[in-house]
Amino acid sequence: MDMMYTNSMSETERYQISNFIESQFGIRMPTTKKILLTTRLSKRLKELDFESYSTYFKYLTSEDGIFNELPIFADLVSTHETRFFREPQHFNYLLNKVLPDIFHTKYDCHGKTLKILSAPCSTGEEVYSLACTIEEFKRVNSMPEIKYTITGTDVSEKVIHKAIHGIYPESAIETIPLELKHRYFLRGKSSHEGFAKIIPEIAERTCFKVVNLMDCTYPFFEEFDIIFCRNMLIYFSKENQELICMKLTGYLKNDGYFFIGHSETLMNFNLQLKNIAPTIYRKK
Ligand SMILES: C[S@@+](CC[C@H](N)C(=O)[O-])C[C@H]1O[C@@H](n2cnc3c(N)ncnc32)[C@H](O)[C@@H]1O
Repeated sequence: MDMMYTNSMSETERYQISNFIESQFGIRMPTTKKILLTTRLSKRLKELDFESYSTYFKYLTSEDGIFNELPIFADLVSTHETRFFREPQHFNYLLNKVLPDIFHTKYDCHGKTLKILSAPCSTGEEVYSLACTIEEFKRVNSMPEIKYTITGTDVSEKVIHKAIHGIYPESAIETIPLELKHRYFLRGKSSHEGFAKIIPEIAERTCFKVVNLMDCTYPFFEEFDIIFCRNMLIYFSKENQELICMKLTGYLKNDGYFFIGHSETLMNFNLQLKNIAPTIYRKK
Protein backbone atom coordinates (compact mmCIF):
# COMPACT_ATOMS: atom_id res chain seq x y z
CA MET A 1 0.00 0.00 0.00
CA ASP A 2 1.22 3.54 -0.85
CA MET A 3 2.08 5.72 2.13
CA MET A 4 0.10 8.99 2.20
CA TYR A 5 2.40 11.86 3.06
CA THR A 6 0.16 14.76 2.06
CA ASN A 7 -1.28 15.34 5.54
CA SER A 8 1.54 14.03 7.62
CA MET A 9 3.79 17.08 7.87
CA SER A 10 3.86 18.28 11.45
CA GLU A 11 3.95 22.01 12.22
CA THR A 12 7.53 21.60 13.49
CA GLU A 13 8.55 19.97 10.21
CA ARG A 14 6.80 22.66 8.18
CA TYR A 15 8.51 25.38 10.21
CA GLN A 16 11.93 23.76 9.79
CA ILE A 17 11.53 23.19 6.05
CA SER A 18 9.98 26.62 5.41
CA ASN A 19 12.79 28.38 7.26
CA PHE A 20 15.31 26.44 5.24
CA ILE A 21 13.57 27.33 1.94
CA GLU A 22 13.48 31.00 2.81
CA SER A 23 17.11 31.12 3.93
CA GLN A 24 18.32 29.25 0.83
CA PHE A 25 16.07 30.62 -1.92
CA GLY A 26 14.13 33.53 -0.43
CA ILE A 27 10.77 31.87 -1.12
CA ARG A 28 8.31 32.29 1.75
CA MET A 29 6.23 29.27 2.73
CA PRO A 30 3.97 30.35 5.61
CA THR A 31 1.49 27.99 7.32
CA THR A 32 -1.11 28.94 4.70
CA LYS A 33 1.06 27.23 2.09
CA LYS A 34 1.43 23.93 3.95
CA ILE A 35 -0.78 22.01 1.53
CA LEU A 36 1.16 23.40 -1.43
CA LEU A 37 4.42 22.42 0.25
CA THR A 38 3.32 18.88 1.07
CA THR A 39 1.85 18.40 -2.42
CA ARG A 40 5.16 19.41 -3.96
CA LEU A 41 7.34 17.32 -1.67
CA SER A 42 5.30 14.17 -1.00
CA LYS A 43 6.09 12.59 -4.39
CA ARG A 44 9.80 13.14 -3.81
CA LEU A 45 9.66 11.52 -0.36
CA LYS A 46 7.97 8.54 -1.92
CA GLU A 47 10.55 8.31 -4.73
CA LEU A 48 13.39 8.31 -2.19
CA ASP A 49 11.48 6.09 0.22
CA PHE A 50 11.65 8.42 3.23
CA GLU A 51 9.00 7.74 5.84
CA SER A 52 8.81 11.30 7.22
CA TYR A 53 9.58 14.90 6.33
CA SER A 54 12.15 15.09 9.16
CA THR A 55 14.19 12.19 7.77
CA TYR A 56 14.00 13.74 4.30
CA PHE A 57 15.10 17.09 5.75
CA LYS A 58 18.00 15.43 7.55
CA TYR A 59 19.16 13.95 4.25
CA LEU A 60 18.58 17.23 2.38
CA THR A 61 20.82 19.15 4.77
CA SER A 62 23.56 16.48 4.88
CA GLU A 63 26.73 16.86 2.78
CA ASP A 64 25.42 14.39 0.23
CA GLY A 65 21.96 16.00 0.22
CA ILE A 66 23.28 19.52 -0.31
CA PHE A 67 25.19 18.29 -3.32
CA ASN A 68 22.65 15.91 -4.87
CA GLU A 69 19.22 16.79 -3.53
CA LEU A 70 19.27 20.58 -3.09
CA PRO A 71 19.04 21.32 -6.87
CA ILE A 72 16.01 19.01 -7.15
CA PHE A 73 14.48 20.53 -4.01
CA ALA A 74 15.00 24.05 -5.42
CA ASP A 75 13.01 23.08 -8.48
CA LEU A 76 10.23 21.46 -6.42
CA VAL A 77 9.61 24.36 -4.07
CA SER A 78 9.54 27.13 -6.67
CA THR A 79 6.73 28.21 -8.97
CA HIS A 80 7.80 28.24 -12.62
CA GLU A 81 4.67 29.57 -14.26
CA THR A 82 5.54 31.68 -17.28
CA ARG A 83 4.42 32.28 -20.86
CA PHE A 84 5.45 34.03 -24.05
CA PHE A 85 4.88 37.80 -23.98
CA ARG A 86 3.54 37.63 -20.41
CA GLU A 87 2.47 41.14 -19.36
CA PRO A 88 2.62 42.38 -22.96
CA GLN A 89 2.77 46.09 -21.99
CA HIS A 90 6.43 45.53 -21.09
CA PHE A 91 7.25 44.23 -24.57
CA ASN A 92 5.32 47.11 -26.18
CA TYR A 93 7.24 49.58 -24.04
CA LEU A 94 10.50 47.96 -25.06
CA LEU A 95 9.58 48.12 -28.75
CA ASN A 96 8.13 51.63 -28.77
CA LYS A 97 10.15 53.48 -26.12
CA VAL A 98 13.28 51.71 -24.91
CA LEU A 99 14.73 50.47 -28.20
CA PRO A 100 14.06 53.74 -30.11
CA ASP A 101 15.67 55.57 -27.18
CA ILE A 102 18.80 53.39 -27.33
CA PHE A 103 19.04 53.19 -31.13
CA HIS A 104 18.13 56.66 -32.48
CA THR A 105 20.11 56.18 -35.67
CA LYS A 106 22.04 53.46 -37.45
CA TYR A 107 25.16 55.12 -36.03
CA ASP A 108 24.09 54.04 -32.52
CA CYS A 109 24.37 50.37 -33.53
CA HIS A 110 28.08 50.53 -34.33
CA GLY A 111 30.34 48.88 -31.83
CA LYS A 112 27.47 48.40 -29.39
CA THR A 113 25.96 45.14 -28.14
CA LEU A 114 22.72 45.55 -26.25
CA LYS A 115 22.90 43.43 -23.08
CA ILE A 116 19.79 42.13 -21.41
CA LEU A 117 19.30 40.02 -18.28
CA SER A 118 16.19 37.99 -17.55
CA ALA A 119 16.43 36.91 -13.90
CA PRO A 120 14.56 34.70 -13.22
CA CYS A 121 13.75 33.32 -16.66
CA SER A 122 12.08 29.99 -15.78
CA THR A 123 11.78 27.85 -18.96
CA GLY A 124 12.95 30.65 -21.28
CA GLU A 125 9.73 32.12 -22.68
CA GLU A 126 10.66 35.59 -21.33
CA VAL A 127 14.12 35.45 -22.93
CA TYR A 128 12.75 34.44 -26.33
CA SER A 129 9.94 37.03 -26.14
CA LEU A 130 12.61 39.68 -25.55
CA ALA A 131 14.62 38.36 -28.51
CA CYS A 132 11.58 38.34 -30.83
CA THR A 133 10.83 41.95 -29.80
CA ILE A 134 14.37 43.08 -30.65
CA GLU A 135 14.28 41.15 -33.95
CA GLU A 136 11.01 42.91 -34.83
CA PHE A 137 12.54 46.29 -34.00
CA LYS A 138 15.54 45.48 -36.23
CA ARG A 139 13.27 44.38 -39.08
CA VAL A 140 10.78 47.27 -38.95
CA ASN A 141 13.53 49.91 -38.65
CA SER A 142 15.86 48.26 -41.18
CA MET A 143 18.64 48.02 -38.58
CA PRO A 144 20.02 44.51 -39.13
CA GLU A 145 23.32 45.63 -37.63
CA ILE A 146 21.90 45.77 -34.09
CA LYS A 147 23.71 43.24 -31.92
CA TYR A 148 22.36 41.92 -28.65
CA THR A 149 22.83 39.19 -26.06
CA ILE A 150 20.25 37.97 -23.58
CA THR A 151 21.27 36.13 -20.42
CA GLY A 152 18.61 34.07 -18.69
CA THR A 153 19.10 32.78 -15.15
CA ASP A 154 17.09 30.75 -12.69
CA VAL A 155 17.69 28.82 -9.46
CA SER A 156 16.27 25.64 -11.01
CA GLU A 157 18.58 23.54 -13.19
CA LYS A 158 15.58 21.77 -14.66
CA VAL A 159 14.00 24.93 -16.11
CA ILE A 160 17.37 26.18 -17.34
CA HIS A 161 17.81 22.95 -19.35
CA LYS A 162 14.38 23.46 -20.91
CA ALA A 163 15.24 27.08 -21.70
CA ILE A 164 18.49 26.05 -23.40
CA HIS A 165 16.64 23.60 -25.64
CA GLY A 166 14.15 26.29 -26.67
CA ILE A 167 11.58 23.69 -27.69
CA TYR A 168 7.94 24.28 -26.77
CA PRO A 169 4.65 22.49 -27.38
CA GLU A 170 2.52 24.23 -30.03
CA SER A 171 0.03 25.06 -27.26
CA ALA A 172 2.66 27.26 -25.56
CA ILE A 173 3.15 29.40 -28.67
CA GLU A 174 -0.46 29.55 -29.83
CA THR A 175 -1.03 33.10 -28.51
CA ILE A 176 1.99 34.45 -30.40
CA PRO A 177 0.90 36.33 -33.55
CA LEU A 178 1.12 34.08 -36.61
CA GLU A 179 3.73 36.15 -38.47
CA LEU A 180 6.06 36.12 -35.43
CA LYS A 181 5.66 32.34 -35.11
CA HIS A 182 6.58 31.94 -38.77
CA ARG A 183 9.58 34.24 -38.50
CA TYR A 184 11.06 33.05 -35.24
CA PHE A 185 10.03 29.41 -34.71
CA LEU A 186 10.66 26.19 -36.62
CA ARG A 187 7.82 23.70 -36.61
CA GLY A 188 8.71 20.15 -35.65
CA LYS A 189 8.20 17.40 -38.21
CA SER A 190 7.59 13.63 -37.82
CA SER A 191 8.71 12.67 -34.29
CA HIS A 192 8.82 16.39 -33.32
CA GLU A 193 5.31 17.04 -34.60
CA GLY A 194 3.38 19.28 -32.18
CA PHE A 195 6.52 21.11 -31.03
CA ALA A 196 8.21 24.32 -32.15
CA LYS A 197 11.84 25.36 -31.74
CA ILE A 198 13.23 28.87 -31.57
CA ILE A 199 15.32 29.67 -34.68
CA PRO A 200 19.12 29.22 -34.33
CA GLU A 201 19.77 32.93 -35.18
CA ILE A 202 17.98 33.82 -31.92
CA ALA A 203 19.23 30.86 -29.88
CA GLU A 204 22.84 31.87 -30.53
CA ARG A 205 22.22 35.33 -29.01
CA THR A 206 21.09 33.79 -25.71
CA CYS A 207 22.93 32.22 -22.81
CA PHE A 208 21.53 30.55 -19.72
CA LYS A 209 22.95 30.01 -16.24
CA VAL A 210 21.80 28.56 -12.94
CA VAL A 211 21.94 31.46 -10.46
CA ASN A 212 20.44 31.69 -6.99
CA LEU A 213 19.55 35.36 -6.58
CA MET A 214 19.88 34.91 -2.80
CA ASP A 215 23.63 34.40 -3.24
CA CYS A 216 25.85 37.26 -2.06
CA THR A 217 27.32 37.90 -5.49
CA TYR A 218 26.24 36.95 -8.97
CA PRO A 219 28.41 35.43 -11.74
CA PHE A 220 27.92 38.32 -14.19
CA PHE A 221 31.00 39.85 -15.73
CA GLU A 222 29.31 42.72 -17.51
CA GLU A 223 26.71 45.39 -16.93
CA PHE A 224 23.31 45.18 -18.54
CA ASP A 225 21.29 47.80 -20.43
CA ILE A 226 18.02 46.16 -19.42
CA ILE A 227 17.09 43.84 -16.55
CA PHE A 228 13.81 41.95 -16.32
CA CYS A 229 13.15 40.68 -12.78
CA ARG A 230 9.52 39.71 -12.98
CA ASN A 231 7.16 37.57 -10.92
CA MET A 232 9.58 36.19 -8.37
CA LEU A 233 9.88 39.02 -5.81
CA ILE A 234 6.23 38.48 -4.95
CA TYR A 235 7.20 35.23 -3.17
CA PHE A 236 9.90 36.97 -1.06
CA SER A 237 9.93 39.07 2.10
CA LYS A 238 10.22 42.86 1.60
CA GLU A 239 13.73 42.68 3.04
CA ASN A 240 14.91 40.08 0.51
CA GLN A 241 13.11 41.88 -2.33
CA GLU A 242 15.06 45.04 -1.58
CA LEU A 243 18.35 43.17 -1.18
CA ILE A 244 17.99 41.36 -4.51
CA CYS A 245 16.98 44.52 -6.37
CA MET A 246 19.96 46.30 -4.85
CA LYS A 247 22.33 43.56 -6.02
CA LEU A 248 20.76 43.41 -9.49
CA THR A 249 20.85 47.17 -9.99
CA GLY A 250 24.57 46.95 -9.24
CA TYR A 251 24.81 45.12 -12.59
CA LEU A 252 22.66 47.69 -14.40
CA LYS A 253 24.30 50.44 -16.47
CA ASN A 254 23.54 54.06 -15.57
CA ASP A 255 20.26 55.00 -17.30
CA GLY A 256 19.58 51.26 -17.75
CA TYR A 257 16.02 49.92 -17.54
CA PHE A 258 14.64 47.67 -14.77
CA PHE A 259 11.32 45.83 -15.17
CA ILE A 260 9.37 44.09 -12.39
CA GLY A 261 6.11 42.09 -12.52
CA HIS A 262 2.74 43.86 -12.62
CA SER A 263 1.80 42.66 -9.14
CA GLU A 264 5.13 43.73 -7.63
CA THR A 265 6.28 47.09 -6.27
CA LEU A 266 9.55 48.72 -5.25
CA MET A 267 7.79 51.37 -3.18
CA ASN A 268 9.73 52.50 -0.09
CA PHE A 269 12.88 50.67 -1.17
CA ASN A 270 16.14 52.54 -1.08
CA LEU A 271 17.32 51.86 -4.64
CA GLN A 272 19.16 53.83 -7.28
CA LEU A 273 16.08 53.66 -9.53
CA LYS A 274 13.45 56.13 -10.66
CA ASN A 275 9.99 55.05 -11.72
CA ILE A 276 9.25 55.98 -15.36
CA ALA A 277 6.08 53.95 -16.03
CA PRO A 278 4.05 51.40 -14.06
CA THR A 279 6.51 48.65 -12.97
CA ILE A 280 9.29 50.13 -15.15
CA TYR A 281 12.32 51.91 -13.66
CA ARG A 282 15.54 53.58 -14.83
CA LYS A 283 18.84 53.70 -13.00
CA LYS A 284 19.60 57.17 -11.63
C1 LIG B 1 6.93 32.56 -11.77
S1 LIG B 1 8.52 32.33 -12.51
C2 LIG B 1 8.68 33.87 -13.39
C3 LIG B 1 9.38 33.69 -14.72
C4 LIG B 1 9.37 34.93 -15.62
N1 LIG B 1 10.21 35.98 -15.09
C5 LIG B 1 7.97 35.42 -15.84
O1 LIG B 1 7.61 36.49 -15.34
O2 LIG B 1 7.20 34.73 -16.53
C6 LIG B 1 9.56 32.55 -11.06
C7 LIG B 1 10.91 31.87 -11.19
O3 LIG B 1 11.72 32.32 -10.12
C8 LIG B 1 12.65 31.30 -9.84
N2 LIG B 1 13.25 31.52 -8.52
C9 LIG B 1 12.69 31.36 -7.29
N3 LIG B 1 13.58 31.64 -6.34
C10 LIG B 1 14.74 31.99 -6.95
C11 LIG B 1 16.02 32.38 -6.50
N4 LIG B 1 16.32 32.46 -5.21
N5 LIG B 1 16.96 32.68 -7.43
C12 LIG B 1 16.68 32.59 -8.74
N6 LIG B 1 15.49 32.21 -9.24
C13 LIG B 1 14.52 31.93 -8.35
C14 LIG B 1 11.80 30.03 -9.93
O4 LIG B 1 12.60 28.88 -10.12
C15 LIG B 1 10.88 30.35 -11.10
O5 LIG B 1 11.31 29.75 -12.30
